[in-house]
Amino acid sequence: MAKLFAVKPLSALRQEASEEGEHTLKRSLGPVNLITLGIGAIIGAGIFVLTGQAAALHAGPAVALSFVVAGITCAFAGLCYAEFASIIPIAGSAYTYGYATLGELVAWIIGWDLCLEYAFGAATVASGWSGYFLSLLAQIGLTPGPAFARFTTTWGNILYLYKGSWMPAMSLPPGVVTGGLPHITGVFNIVAFLAIVCVTIVLVIGIKESANLNSAIVFVKLAVVGIFLVLGTHFLLHHPHLAQVNWHPFIPGNEGRGVFGIDGIVAGASSVFFAYIGFDAVSTAAQEARNPQRDMPIGILGSLVICTILYIAVSLVLTGLVNYRTLNVAQPVALGIDATGVSWGSLLVKIGAVFGLGTVMLVMLLGQSRVFFSMSRDGLLWKWASDIHPRFRTPWISNIVVGSIVAFLPALLPIDRLSELVNMGTLLAFAIVSAGVWILRVRQPELERPFRTPFVPVVPILGIVSAFYLMFHLPLLTWEVVGIWLVVGLTIYFSWSTRHSKVQAMQRELPQPR
Ligand code: ALA
Repeated sequence: MAKLFAVKPLSALRQEASEEGEHTLKRSLGPVNLITLGIGAIIGAGIFVLTGQAAALHAGPAVALSFVVAGITCAFAGLCYAEFASIIPIAGSAYTYGYATLGELVAWIIGWDLCLEYAFGAATVASGWSGYFLSLLAQIGLTPGPAFARFTTTWGNILYLYKGSWMPAMSLPPGVVTGGLPHITGVFNIVAFLAIVCVTIVLVIGIKESANLNSAIVFVKLAVVGIFLVLGTHFLLHHPHLAQVNWHPFIPGNEGRGVFGIDGIVAGASSVFFAYIGFDAVSTAAQEARNPQRDMPIGILGSLVICTILYIAVSLVLTGLVNYRTLNVAQPVALGIDATGVSWGSLLVKIGAVFGLGTVMLVMLLGQSRVFFSMSRDGLLWKWASDIHPRFRTPWISNIVVGSIVAFLPALLPIDRLSELVNMGTLLAFAIVSAGVWILRVRQPELERPFRTPFVPVVPILGIVSAFYLMFHLPLLTWEVVGIWLVVGLTIYFSWSTRHSKVQAMQRELPQPR
């Protein structure tokens, strides 16, 4: 039984972190790279797609408050991630932190759970990406015919042709009846599938190339968000009555469980939480950071703060420009900019979203392969998952295997199901990391901590409580799927990993008194 709680010694982790050579990852990232890596992961389908759904279906204009609630939850977890990343600057992120503090079984659970965050996260974003991409094509007059349109959405999803775009019934403007419109039933979303394939190729070629590409596209993404805010605010300042009408009532009355009112704000927070996911992906690049002790906290907290401010501003401007009830569309931000009457605006937003969501997929898949890399190094996953390409110095086989599987997810499953799974998996990881910081403070108080989470244990406790609070607002189906996912993971762990674990082997050879 004790072997399940075998803890990986911090000295061994630090040794791994300081290794150099051709079988290790290249240390090429500075603080600016890390913040851009974070922003590259954070700003994506959450703000570009899910904000509109959350406003229309859950919170109304008070979706801005949903962002505040979700942002506070992330801040608690972010502070805990920053402490761990500064102590254990190694690629595996929460998985590694768990291994050092809570033991192998919990580490396995986190590692497996992180697949939900990173792999399913990349899949969710690919789904959002395909929506913006197709809408961009439609805007320049390239609407697919019915035969091809069936391959632009998931199995069984019905799309209607309305004003040159294929869209689901829920995205049609109020009052439009579906009866007379041409329609198709989806088979396989090949657009999302190919997006993941392309990102995987970039990742196999290398981290430095990926980071440079990421920095350039993050700039484009921030520029698009900035232009939306400037145009939107300018318009609202000249049409204050519009904002007054659209923001009134700011918190619409409750219409049922999770729909408007305070309950709707929390349900909205559980949904837009997705928009914040990604700052923790910075920690998965710890082994590629030049000065991880100093730069990890800067990367994690810096990217989180910047995005929180932007999200609150974007959601306020968006719900000021457009009535929240009409925001349940695939491109709400483009709809918002249309309301300003600036004709090139929505084209620009769509182009920015297409590039911007690309970087999110990149960082998510990067994080996923890094977690597998660490698990494989520890003997908990097959050896091929940590094979480094001699020339590219990337975990290429892991990238290819993960990319090949992930590509099928957005091709077959809808965005809301995928994003709920991601939120659940990530919130669970946040809760475990928060607990880990507290436990490590108790067990090893003397440990050098270049960054210290403030007010321990208050902040970790708030991190755990807020994560579970949001989890309880997710659908029961999500809990069930995550439960099945964990059972599959534990089966692999008990049937394969325990027999190959390097930490367990080390403990068998050198029993260490604790
Ligand atoms: N936060 C990322 C997004 O919104 C995952 O796409």
